[in-house]
Amino acid sequence: MPTSQPIHPFLSGLGKSRMAPPSVVVIFGASGDLTARKLIPAIYNLGVDNLLPNVFFLIGCGRAPMQDEDFQKLVLESIKSYSRRPLNEALWKHLCACISYHQVEIEDTIAYQGLLNKIQALEQHTQQELQSIFYISTPPQAFKPILENLGNSGLAERHLFSPLESKVILEKPFGRDLASAKELNAIIAKQFEEKQVYRIDHYLGKETVQDLLVQRFTNAIFEPIWNYQYVDNVQITVAEELGVGTRGGYYDKSGALRDMIQNHTMQLLSLVAMEPPVSSSPEDIRNEKVKLLKAIQPLKLAVNERDAIRARYTEGLINGVKVPGYLDEGNIPGQSFTETYAALRFFINNWRWKGVPFYIRSGKRMARRVTEIAIQFKRSPGTLFEDRHFTRVPANSLIIQIQPDEGMSFILNSKIPGLETRIQPVKMHFRYATTYGSNTPEAYERLIIDCIMGDGTLFIRGDEAISSWQICTPILEFWEECKDAGLATYPAGSWGPLEADKLLWETHHEWRRIGLY
Ligand code: BG6
Repeated sequence: MPTSQPIHPFLSGLGKSRMAPPSVVVIFGASGDLTARKLIPAIYNLGVDNLLPNVFFLIGCGRAPMQDEDFQKLVLESIKSYSRRPLNEALWKHLCACISYHQVEIEDTIAYQGLLNKIQALEQHTQQELQSIFYISTPPQAFKPILENLGNSGLAERHLFSPLESKVILEKPFGRDLASAKELNAIIAKQFEEKQVYRIDHYLGKETVQDLLVQRFTNAIFEPIWNYQYVDNVQITVAEELGVGTRGGYYDKSGALRDMIQNHTMQLLSLVAMEPPVSSSPEDIRNEKVKLLKAIQPLKLAVNERDAIRARYTEGLINGVKVPGYLDEGNIPGQSFTETYAALRFFINNWRWKGVPFYIRSGKRMARRVTEIAIQFKRSPGTLFEDRHFTRVPANSLIIQIQPDEGMSFILNSKIPGLETRIQPVKMHFRYATTYGSNTPEAYERLIIDCIMGDGTLFIRGDEAISSWQICTPILEFWEECKDAGLATYPAGSWGPLEADKLLWETHHEWRRIGLY
């Protein structure tokens, strides 16, 4: 694929030294929202960076009857609307010629045979064997028939045990609880080897999430203090300003725990707390994440002694604009007791983290959009300065800001200039945009190219998904039993319910005041 633009520094190392194998990417759910907003722009931007294979095809699959030209138009619209970089006509001409559409009723076995014929015809035409990547970006009820038909038609086992073996990418949700996740794993395992399976968690494709591993395991200053002796508590916040918008129907059956905690925040927790892997191979990294998840102590759920808080937003102000409460959003049943906010306190039963609380919170319609991991260190003994002027010297924190304004900050104490000794926390900043420029690749770019290259490091392994559900399912079951008893509220535009503050007060902590410093 030609490009006139320089390769972004974040993508260096992925270029010529790792030639992408000839591939066909087949997207199930071709006219869906995710395809338009994320997948197509990601593929286009990989083309801009000259990272797509020299022999590359994109086949959109869906129920709707469509000509190739209609699908090409959809693709073009999606690039124009959502690509982070403008349309390059020469590149588009090249890409457009590689795009086609195949109508598939998901239960219709003949349609999968047709897809196989189509891929084989492309192979004959190019005189090249192709790696097939099946991207399942459909509602979850379609996963099973698609997976079974990929198996039965022989598409799943094409070029098996060679570098060109078929791969399948699955979008979330990966089950709705422990039992359904196990069932889904079993369905997959009947048709695919685990190494062919790429379960997406788009947070793992975010630059800052990947950088977490680099920061932790290449900066020797961190390891000696990354444990119960120096860390007082860890706080992970994944806050959104957005409400449920048009996704009420989906969201009400999901809730914050399934939608954000079980996957994205548990991933952040595993990466920040896991032991150093013995190598950077996908299996070694994922083994450590699973070990970490297994070490998490079951949460207390009793009404008077609980580690888990849930709440839903009521009417409020977001950036000065009045927004409705959750129950007044579209497609939300009046009897709903779905949570739009969850705060949890975890303890990890291992040598490194014994006794250190990990607080996690995620919510919609919060004061501002921010995802961060705050490592709150223990206080210095401080007796030297804790006299008449101040009672407590603040503790140090390391803030890993995942988004927006990606970066990392250290909060240190310093003396305010003057004749008196007055101490104030100050922030040392590292900002990606300042150091590397602001046009960072989208998570889906990294994930799609990694799958094309056969690198599963940033994808969820089957046992990882299960371990995470093992932690979250008892909470969900308890909340389902309680219905709305214990479901707190918070006004849209706030930092969550008072109950979540109390959760931390019980263990003599408080949530970091984001934005203050
Ligand atoms: C998705 C959730 O997985 O992540 C959405 O289903 C949420 O509800 C989104 O809004 C947040 O992703 P990001 O990348 O905007 O933080």
